[in-house]
Amino acid sequence: MKRIVVIEGDGIGAEVVPQAVRVLKLVAPEIDLIPAEMGLASKRRTGNYLPDATMNAIRDSDACLFGAITSPDGDPAYRSPILRLRCELDLYANVRPAKRIIPDIGIVDLDLTLVRENSEGMYTGMEEEKEGAVVLERKISEKGCRRICRHALDLCESEQIARITCVHKANVLRKSDGMFRRIFYQEAAGRRIEAQDMLVDAAAAALITKPKMFGCIVTLNLYGDILSDEAAALVGGLGMAPSGNIGDHYAVFEPCHGSAPDIAGRGIANPIATILSASMSLKYLGMKDAAELIEDGVEEALRSGVRTPDIGGQHSTWQFGDELVSIIEKRID
Ligand code: NAI
Ligand code: MG
Repeated sequence: MKRIVVIEGDGIGAEVVPQAVRVLKLVAPEIDLIPAEMGLASKRRTGNYLPDATMNAIRDSDACLFGAITSPDGDPAYRSPILRLRCELDLYANVRPAKRIIPDIGIVDLDLTLVRENSEGMYTGMEEEKEGAVVLERKISEKGCRRICRHALDLCESEQIARITCVHKANVLRKSDGMFRRIFYQEAAGRRIEAQDMLVDAAAAALITKPKMFGCIVTLNLYGDILSDEAAALVGGLGMAPSGNIGDHYAVFEPCHGSAPDIAGRGIANPIATILSASMSLKYLGMKDAAELIEDGVEEALRSGVRTPDIGGQHSTWQFGDELVSIIEKRID
């Protein structure tokens, strides 16, 4: 039996994850869902932001679904548990689909899967003060480039994405980004996928002006962080944006948003980002039909007008969940 560890976390995590769990139980009843803790509430209860029990549960499972956590104010020893997970489980690929599901949500007709290198580059935190300046070390390895390009190309094959764009800044960063681009074309050679490359600034503009030219984007850490938020905004905002952190042995799926303290506890958070993250976890486990049942159900629920306030509706988190569950129940019958 397949096992998914489920972590609600803090803030709206505790409101949106239960909706994803309802849906998972419906479309994939054979999966064992194992609850675990992480984040600020976990710290208060167990003394740890990321208890060993949670780490062990994830190592023993096939995938993990996680809501969101709140970062504490003024704890100098704090290290983000999600960064720890990415690092310790070597979750080097951050996969973020950004698809406009229906025409009246979002502003651009995008159907993009963005694959971001998640283990090196600008975000390794190696900053040093030197003679009145701060020097940042940015390391990009051949192995890192190769595995992220392979991951993205494999994803294009399994999801039938026809075109992939390698996004970089090789006109300025000739050696590092130049290597990334070179390895991309080596890995793409001989595959039946249309491969092209683009400078990151041009790509930021083209996402808005020529969205149809993109299928998959593979890119480095910093560029991916920025472009994925842009892409999410173009298709309806954070409440609609799912993601997966994937390595060779483990995978953690989570909405792109945080714990949203400004709306937490009010029952109005949009659960779609988390529900679509759950759907990604099923695809990762090879359960494509169950995943599509969720995606099609979300589309139908949105079409029927059931929407949370962030996307212009007046429904609650639970009302969206109720509508989705009833749609899926009908489709399963
Ligand atoms: P946030 O993503 O929590 O919220 C940004 C804005 O988007 C807020 O106005 C919020 O109400 C809205 N929003 C987010 N998700 C929504 C949803 N599902 N439905 C409707 N509206 C939604 O980012 P913020 O406010 O910068 O951070 C809040 C806390 O979350 C911080 O402690 C931060 O460190 C943490 N955080 C955690 C992340 C994670 O767990 N992976 C990621 C980002 C932030
Ligand atoms: Mg970000």
